[in-house]
Amino acid sequence: MLVLGVESSCDETSVSIVRDGKVVLSNAINSQIKIHEKFGGVVPEVASRHHVYQITLVFKEAFEAANIKPEEIDLVAVTMGPGLIGSLLVGVNAAKAFAMMYNKPIIGVHHLAGHIYANAIEHEMKFPLVALLVSGGNTELIYMKDHFSFEIIGETLDDAVGEAYDKVARVVGLPYPGGPHVDRLAHLGEDTYHLPRVYLDDDSFNFSFSGLKSAVINLNHNANQRGEEINVNNLCRSFQDSVTEVLVRKTLKLAKKLNVNNIIVAGGVSANKGLKERFLDEGKDFNISIPSIKYCTDNAAMIAVAGYYQHMVFKDDYDDLTLNAIASLDLEDFYKMKRK
Ligand code: KG4
Repeated sequence: MLVLGVESSCDETSVSIVRDGKVVLSNAINSQIKIHEKFGGVVPEVASRHHVYQITLVFKEAFEAANIKPEEIDLVAVTMGPGLIGSLLVGVNAAKAFAMMYNKPIIGVHHLAGHIYANAIEHEMKFPLVALLVSGGNTELIYMKDHFSFEIIGETLDDAVGEAYDKVARVVGLPYPGGPHVDRLAHLGEDTYHLPRVYLDDDSFNFSFSGLKSAVINLNHNANQRGEEINVNNLCRSFQDSVTEVLVRKTLKLAKKLNVNNIIVAGGVSANKGLKERFLDEGKDFNISIPSIKYCTDNAAMIAVAGYYQHMVFKDDYDDLTLNAIASLDLEDFYKMKRK
């Protein structure tokens, strides 16, 4: 079965063709990072305009790279939310135009389900499992007893972890998006600043990163005022150790509590090397799955794969051409409705 995936929820325009939920024939991605870098973050209006410029070119690239004709596609899967509404609309309308033109079924996919199902490309998703979802907008611990059964057990009470990475990077003068840069420098430094491990030992499975972010900002500010130099590598390492210790320990604690052996990590921050190293080191007793870096950040292959599994689980529950983009879309509720 050939699934065409379309993703445009934020600042990546991506189109992918995946065979049987596993074999990625193409995964064309046009990233707008260079465009938004000068603003220090994604500018929604600029992002949607660039999706409009890019979408047909990225479609063409995906079909050429896969050497597939449009008529051969069996199902169209598109991110319908959550995300920036102007950006989402471009992908949703392009996917609908394709589905209408070639008379193909279309299915709306939740962006976060896409991140989670990115794990099914290179690994087998075994249930029950605990998913740690870490991205620019989300930090969640999710229990899945089966396909598309999402129970959010814990989440951030303030900043998402990717957001905290990006803000810390900005404070120490690193480019946007800062996560990969902080990760790189962290590997050159040591944890000398001993930043707080927020909520590490409490009974909940929630997270908080805004206090940690403020601790970095204050440390940097005080050092500037005193004319002292900050060791950026050590600060990045200290921040990363603080974040990864809390994320990994809480995930393992939840898996133990639920008596679950399978853990998957998903979302842009799952590309973090420090996080992966700590999971492999501390989680030896668990079956841990982390996607390759190319499937961690936003891409359409993960949407095609999630669409494939939606088709397998919910059978012919396709959308029609009234399918619309939704900026705020709750993961649990979205699939609860489909499961009914
Ligand atoms: O999932 P994603 O591509 O977009 C959404 O938020 O949906 O995640 C982007 C986030 C950014 O905050 C970026 O800085 C972070 O993922 N990120 C990383 C790394 N690579 C990307 N954070 C830490 N370490 C990395 N290696």
